[in-house]
Amino acid sequence: MTGKIIGTGSYVPARIVTNDELAQIVDTSDEWIAGRTGIRQRRIAVEESTSYMAAEAAKRALENAGTDAEELELILVGTTSGDHCFPSVACEVQAALGAGNAVAYDVSAACSGFLFAMDTLWAFIRAGVYKTGLVIGADCLSKLTDWRDRSTCVLFGDGAGAAVMKAADSGLIQTVMGSDGNRWNVLSCVSRTNGSFADGKAPQLGFLHMDGQEVFKFAVKKVPECIHQVLEESDTDIEQVKYFVLHQANYRIVEAVAKRLKQPLDKFPMNMEYYGNTSAATVPILLDEMNREGRLKPGDRIMLSGFGAGLTWGAALLEW
Ligand code: COA
Repeated sequence: MTGKIIGTGSYVPARIVTNDELAQIVDTSDEWIAGRTGIRQRRIAVEESTSYMAAEAAKRALENAGTDAEELELILVGTTSGDHCFPSVACEVQAALGAGNAVAYDVSAACSGFLFAMDTLWAFIRAGVYKTGLVIGADCLSKLTDWRDRSTCVLFGDGAGAAVMKAADSGLIQTVMGSDGNRWNVLSCVSRTNGSFADGKAPQLGFLHMDGQEVFKFAVKKVPECIHQVLEESDTDIEQVKYFVLHQANYRIVEAVAKRLKQPLDKFPMNMEYYGNTSAATVPILLDEMNREGRLKPGDRIMLSGFGAGLTWGAALLEW
């Protein structure tokens, strides 16, 4: 028994912010941003909250799967930008869906959040605890971005993606997840709840901070490594993999991974040009686009892989 993705959905805010628009706020240019990252525009939440985006993506995934919200036994949201410290985004999504029979909580693994949440649901399904669950990657990093810092504010966008997974004879084949807490400060964001009892200071807002080059080096090393590990553990030849659906942080990272894996770039679909890095949402948004475009056929082997703050990383091989 394994878990199969039977439906996908996604949501991005309507507001488009182009590189040229950003160039009016910070000292940057479309040429610099597109040349270094492949990003030309991103969607930024104006009215939308993280839980709203997550719930909209979830509704579309449930519809796509032909699954009623009441069938859901577990709702997991990979996110690091919930609207509240508590409750979880997952509990807010549960309410929006009317999924009264589910247990709901968030999984915190930054940009790897969707993969980590999916792996958790998969483990519950294999253990026979649950049969039907919903996994979501949703982030609104525009709220955590210092819009005066050109080295980070050009990279991210907001959005959510979701997948319904059900117990089945085929589906997820193998996963590998990893983390290295020793390198937590390579990419981090101070908590918004740092009011201090000791000195009576009011809570301050925290912005995300990143050592871009360290993240780049880590990603191009770890992503191929964990993909190779998944292939080895599942006794799969890399040529059997039809698509590599990777975290959409930077096209140069995807290019470098393809090169290291000795695979043609056309096996690596990309959409960061339109959405930027939507953190935990990149993989499920891309998967949903491919699903709705009819690019995924039953029996296709797809490799998902992500990386992010923690540091965290993961890869998952599945049969569509
Ligand atoms: N526009 C114009 N110039 C910029 C800029 C911007 N938005 N951001 C930085 N620069 C400048 C720097 O100030 C620096 O100038 P200097 O040489 O005068 O000091 C120069 O560009 C080079 O900066 P550097 O940081 O060395 O660039 P880079 O080639 O490493 O590219 C990233 C920066 C962020 C694009 C790249 O490191 C990267 O993609 N890293 C991975 C980040 C990531 O994926 N994070 C999410 C993980 S989930």
